[in-house]
This record gives sequence, structure tokens and C-alpha cells, in this order.
Amino acid sequence: MSTKPPKFSTIGHSLTRPDAQGKITGTTEYIPDITIPRMVHAAPVTSPVPFGRLETVDPTPARSIPGFIEFIGAEHIPWKNQVGVIIQDQPLMADSVVRYVGDSIGLVIAESPTAAREAAQAIRIHIDPLPAVFTIDEARDASGPFIHDTNLACTHQVVNGDAATELDQADRIIEARLSTPFQEHFYLEPQGCIAIPEPDGSFTLIGSIQCPFYVQKAVAGALGIPFNQVCVKQAPIGGAFGGKEDIPSELCARAAVAAYHLRRPVRLVYTREEDIQLTSKRHPFQMHYQVGVMNDGILVAAKVLLEENAGAYATLSTVVSYRSSIQALGPYRVPHVDVVSNSYYTNNPPTGAFRGFGSPQAAFGHERMMDMIARELGLDPLELRLKNLLRIGDTTVTGQKLMVSVGAEETLQRAANAAEWPRKVKSASGSRYRTGLGIGTIHYGNCLGAAGWALDGAGVKLSLARDGSVAVAFGLVEMGQGALTVVQQMTAEALGIDPERITVLPTDSRQVPDSGPSVASRNVVMTGNAIRKAAEALLPVLKRTAAETLDSSPESIKISGDKAIDTSSGDFLTFDALAEALYLNNQPMESLGWWHVPRLNFKPETGQGEAYFTYSFATQIAQVTVDTLTGQIAVDHVWAAHDVGQAVNPAGIEGQVEGGVAQGVGLALTEHFLLDKGQVISDNFTTYLVPTALDSPEVTTQIVEAPEPEGPWGAKGIGEPAIIPTAAAIANAVSNALGVQVHEIPITPEKVLEILKHP
Ligand code: MOS
Repeated sequence: MSTKPPKFSTIGHSLTRPDAQGKITGTTEYIPDITIPRMVHAAPVTSPVPFGRLETVDPTPARSIPGFIEFIGAEHIPWKNQVGVIIQDQPLMADSVVRYVGDSIGLVIAESPTAAREAAQAIRIHIDPLPAVFTIDEARDASGPFIHDTNLACTHQVVNGDAATELDQADRIIEARLSTPFQEHFYLEPQGCIAIPEPDGSFTLIGSIQCPFYVQKAVAGALGIPFNQVCVKQAPIGGAFGGKEDIPSELCARAAVAAYHLRRPVRLVYTREEDIQLTSKRHPFQMHYQVGVMNDGILVAAKVLLEENAGAYATLSTVVSYRSSIQALGPYRVPHVDVVSNSYYTNNPPTGAFRGFGSPQAAFGHERMMDMIARELGLDPLELRLKNLLRIGDTTVTGQKLMVSVGAEETLQRAANAAEWPRKVKSASGSRYRTGLGIGTIHYGNCLGAAGWALDGAGVKLSLARDGSVAVAFGLVEMGQGALTVVQQMTAEALGIDPERITVLPTDSRQVPDSGPSVASRNVVMTGNAIRKAAEALLPVLKRTAAETLDSSPESIKISGDKAIDTSSGDFLTFDALAEALYLNNQPMESLGWWHVPRLNFKPETGQGEAYFTYSFATQIAQVTVDTLTGQIAVDHVWAAHDVGQAVNPAGIEGQVEGGVAQGVGLALTEHFLLDKGQVISDNFTTYLVPTALDSPEVTTQIVEAPEPEGPWGAKGIGEPAIIPTAAAIANAVSNALGVQVHEIPITPEKVLEILKHP
């Protein structure tokens, strides 16, 4: 890790997490631990078939199960039976068609979770099956019946120049077909919520929720009540990774419909098996790359087709399709491009948001291509990347000229130096073990980009108490990533006070305006800028009051080091005394800050323009050892260099990188998600192998700081960049170790043995 002295008093320091104690000692209560007096329990009633017409639902047999209270189905929904987050294609509860195994038909409410599940099994469901499709090829080539009006959920393109002509003119065309798998989020606690009907007719929702304002909208929509009658409170979260972005809207709206009818708190917490069968995954990608390159290694043109398995509903496929099209060629200059990204409906569980929104998949595509190109041309993979890398003044494939904050080259150099590239990792001949090194270099558009610009604002509320303590309410959430800590730090920095004074409140939809979703590595940038705005509003009041108390002028007052100092006399007030003075002088002690991403000029028809307002860059280099006898791959070391603009909490960044790398090891090697006609086979920790500490490599993190002027104190996002290059780097390292080209992940031991048998 870098050991540069911090430029700021609190930013850049590794403050301890305020939520650490509870989590370490086990006293933090997650949603499965939380109980409410008089609450009843819900169990999902779901489709046993992948596709069909729902003919009848008969709850009669369930009524005799002891503890049964009620069956809640589509007919119970007071207002809108629709929960699609972007495309309105998803009923809250099926009323005519079911589209995947696990599709929602309703809820059974009972006195205990066990009774609810037993009764759910007893509901008699009659479905007339339709011919289902499961793969991208089946969905694309089907002539009907279609899963929705069409099997194409969405499409995005990036077109610049004349890729077809320029490919013909290139010295070589390197072509490959690549694919990536489903990935299950496997957050610690499964999805869950409690819906509470309040005496005043409003509803409170408590849950494991990434996006409280999505839930607010969904519940209001299902019940037909105003947003301000829905209060969404976030329970502590043990991980979400995108899986709790839109899915909690489904659980909360269904539980709220039950609570509406029963006038009792309704608790809906999925079992692990339900969670895996019913909720979203990472999109599998099928990719076809054709890249035109000159003999000296300069990229001239590319034609790319990305195809995604979207599952039964679009959920966040549009975001995945948009982002993967923009990032399909990585942080490189390619003057002529033709990229198409198509998401297809299939009768699998929906795929949606998962750390990176399609970026790890696109990274596997462009970084495997870079290694294959280097090999074809006899160039060093590092050298090839350096020849084509985006630098200040360069233009991206969307025609966006980057004028600031491009740390790509520094990440590549720093990671390469740390890994001692091009270290010869020679395996003794005849040895059963073979070692290899591989590079993954990426960029990541921060926040929601042009496609999501309308939602890309966020707010905070700073409330000063008369004792000088400060409460911060923010609209994004802590989901394990360390949001509470960085919000605390940024507030301290903005006000010039000690972080110990600051308490960051759990997110509550009534405390702050709709701040959009907690996704896309947005928190530091969005909340940080909102904090700066809130502080800008509060500081003049603080300075004026300090000036009056110290008999000075506001211009001479400086608030720093937890004091208001009169720079002309050297007199000062402690911050406690200043807060008390504010209170006694009837001054406003609260301020709201709001920040919106700058306007982006972008043409969706061609995918040209400012796709995102800034980009994070990263390089990870992986070293692997392949056991050619068993086919097992060990990731020995990952050297990770990440351009974060400005580190807010270096230890937090290291934590994100180590976690991202571990999750990337799973994507690359061990997490083999298996479905049989839409039924998940790998639905527990025994059959779905999430890497443990023993499978996780040593990680060396380098922090690169290419400051972003629009970022708070120069900062950019780190949450998703942490995983994006990992699987690509590992696949490149395995290809390097075995002297073959890996075209798909996960690279399971069986696959390694297969490759060795038929290279
Ligand atoms: Mo995420 S895929 O930005 O929740």
C-alpha cells in the first residue's frame, strides 16, 4: 500500500469502522434476527415449471395446515401488479403467465415460518406448460412463444467510424468467441424484510435493502398510497453486491400487500435455497470479438457482439447491456468500432445487478483479446497494453475526450513493478505444477452514466446538536462496503471537525430526498459531494456566529482542527461552544446538501458521447499455479493497482480490493452455477463453491491517485473496480501457464484436465 502522507486531516486516514464492534462481537442484528410484536410469517408460493399459463391456484388444501392464516395472491394487490424496475415486464405476483421456476404466484401467511412453508407446499397450482428456452442461442433463435412480446430484452450499441472497412485494412484480425457464467451473489444473510402496517395507515418496511427509494416506489405502487406513506428503514446488511438492488422491492411489496390485508406485521425472509432459486444472478455472456491490429500492435478497429442471458425478466439488464457496450473494448484507443450488446430473455431465474453490472464479463472479453493479440504478434502483453492505453487527451470508443483523472498507465506500471513483470515464472520441465502470470486492465464509468442520468443525484442532511455532536442522514446505504466510515470522514473533513463528533444514521427514506440507488460504486462520489454542499450551507452560519461571539468578522474565521479560530487575533471557540452559541442565537442547525452528476451529452442511437462523467482505472496481475495432475488452480498472488482519484479510507480500499479479488477468484475458478431446465442444482454452499480464505490469494494493493475535479476531494469509486479485472487476469495467467487460450470461465479442474487432453 502507498504510504504517502495524507493531504487532508481526515480524508486519506484509515479510520476504524463505526459498525465494526457489533459485527465482530455478533451483537448486530440482521434481518433474520429481528422480530416485531404480533408479526406473522410469509413463505413464497412459486412456479414449479419454467414457463406456462397459470390456470388455477387453489389454497383450499393449505387451510387445514395448523398455523395457516391466509393465502395472498395477485387478486389481493390493491393497485399495480407490476414491479419491473426499468422495463415494466414483471408482475408482482403472476396472474396469467409464469416465466421461471420460482416465479412468484403469491405468499402464504402463517403463525410460523415452518407452517408457512408447509402450507405453501400444499397450495394446488395448475399450470399449462409452454415450451421453454434456457440458453442465449435458444432464446435468440426461437420463433415463439416468446417469453414477453419478444425474447430480446434490450440492446445497446457503440458505433464509431467504419469498423468493417478498417478491419479489412488491418494487418491482422484476431477473432475469438468467449463466454462467462452465471454467478450467485451469496451475500451473508438471505433476502428478507418485515412490512409493518402503522396505525395512521402508513407502512414501515425494514429490510436488507440496497435501494430504499426503489422499495418506497414499489410498495406505494402496489398499495396505491403516496410515497410519503411508505417509510423504508434499512436493517444492517451482511453483503448485497447488487443482489439487493431491485429484488427487495419484490419482497417488500409482496409482504406489504399481506400486511395491508391482515393489519399485522408480515415477515418474509427467504431460506438460502429459495434465495438462490428465486432471486437474480450475474448475466452469463457470450461474446464474439474481431479485433483489427497493425503489426506494431496498434489497435485500429473492432467488431464486437455481446449476448447476455437475462433470465425471465429484464430487471437491471438494460444497465448491464449499456455498461458492457461502453466498456467492451476496455481502456484502450480503438478508432473504429462496432459494438452490439443484446440481452435475451430465457426461462431461467432473472439475471440482474451484480458488482460491476456486466463489467467483469466485458473485461474477460477485452483482456483475453489483448493477450491473444500479444501472442499472435509476439509482443509482451504489458507492452501491447501500454501502446494502446488511454491517456490524458485521448478519446474513448464513445468519442469522449478524457482531459483529467486518467490513472490507467500508472496502475499498469505500478502493478507490473510490484509483480516484477516480466518475471520468468518457469516451471521445472516435467513438473506436475505449471505457473503463469496474467494481466487485467480495466476502466469503470462511475455512477449511473448517461443512461441513468435522471436518477443520478443524492442528498445528505447534517444535523448539529447543541453539544457539538453531528448526525448525518444519507440516502445511500451501508451494505458492508464501509459507507458509514467514509461518510463520517468526509463530513469531518468538510466541517473541519473531529470525526468522533459524527454519527452516521442508518438510512431511512423519510430523512433525505430520493438519492437514487446504492449501486455503481456511487457512494463516495455522490454522498461526498452532497456533504460538501451541505457543509457549504452550514459553514457561513457557523462562521457568522463564531465571529459574533469572538467579536470578529466572518471572513477572519477559519474552522479547522475542531475549533473556530479568529485568524486575525488567534482567539478560538471549541466546536462544542460554537454549537451552543448557535443554539442560543436561534440559528439554523441543520442543512441539506444535494449533488447531481454533471449533464452528459450522449447519443444512445450510436453510443457516442459522454457515457460517464469520470472513470476509475485498475490493473490486477495474477500469478497462478496449475496442478496438471488434479486440474486444480491455485491463485498465488494478485498485485492490484487501483486509481481511486483520492483515497478516502486506505484500509477500506484494501478491504474492497481483497474482497473483490476473492469474489473474482470464485467467478474465474470455483463458482460453477448449475441449472437443469431452470431448476438450480447448485443451491447451497456444498455444491456452489464460494472461495474461502484458503482459496484467496495474497493481495498486494497499490493505491493510485489521479484526482477527479468533480469528485469530492478528488475521489472516484472503488467498490466494483475491485472485482472487474480479477477473472480476466486469472484466465490470462492460466492461459500463460498452460500455453493454451482459455475461452470460458469458470476454469474448473475438469476443464483444466480437458484442456490438457485436447489443447
Ligand atoms: Mo451494483 S451491480 O452497482 O449493486
